[in-house]
Amino acid sequence: MKIIEKDQKAKITLKVNGEVHEVEVEPRRLLVHVLRDLGYTDVHIGCDTSNCGACTVIMNGRSVKSCTVLAVEADGADILTVEGLSKDGKLHPIQEAFWDNHGLQCGYCTPGMIMEAYWLLKENPNPSEEEIREGISGNLCRCTGYQNIVKAIKDASLRLSQKEYPRQ
Ligand code: FES
Ligand code: FES
Repeated sequence: MKIIEKDQKAKITLKVNGEVHEVEVEPRRLLVHVLRDLGYTDVHIGCDTSNCGACTVIMNGRSVKSCTVLAVEADGADILTVEGLSKDGKLHPIQEAFWDNHGLQCGYCTPGMIMEAYWLLKENPNPSEEEIREGISGNLCRCTGYQNIVKAIKDASLRLSQKEYPRQ
């Protein structure tokens, strides 16, 4: 077992949106800060008690709050942020659905909300309104009142079920 003292840094590797990064981090450094320092400023910080979900990313296929993961714990992980969803400038159907249904205002919660929606629709491709609300209950929004976010996710589930939008 490798022991890293508190004043030492560990060398870790993170794959983010397909790009591999090698970074040196203190053991106490949070993943959210490392991602933002690497330039992934689409990952936001909205609280310091793990409840807002603005920092949500997909890590090894599951949605996680990156403010609640130490960067050293994420060594070797495959991470997807909202920046990694669009392909060649074409929006992902979930992004399009948020746009078309006015599922955002200030946009601060939006990257985390979309990543949670991405994970939710992978787990449950045709969720009911109740399942959507439950599915995003770890993601707070102060602007929208949630109604249009729920509509956007329902719309995204329909778009994803159509042939022209192959599920990723
Ligand atoms: S920043 Fe609020 S849950 Fe991560
Ligand atoms: S759009 Fe402003 S916090 Fe959700």
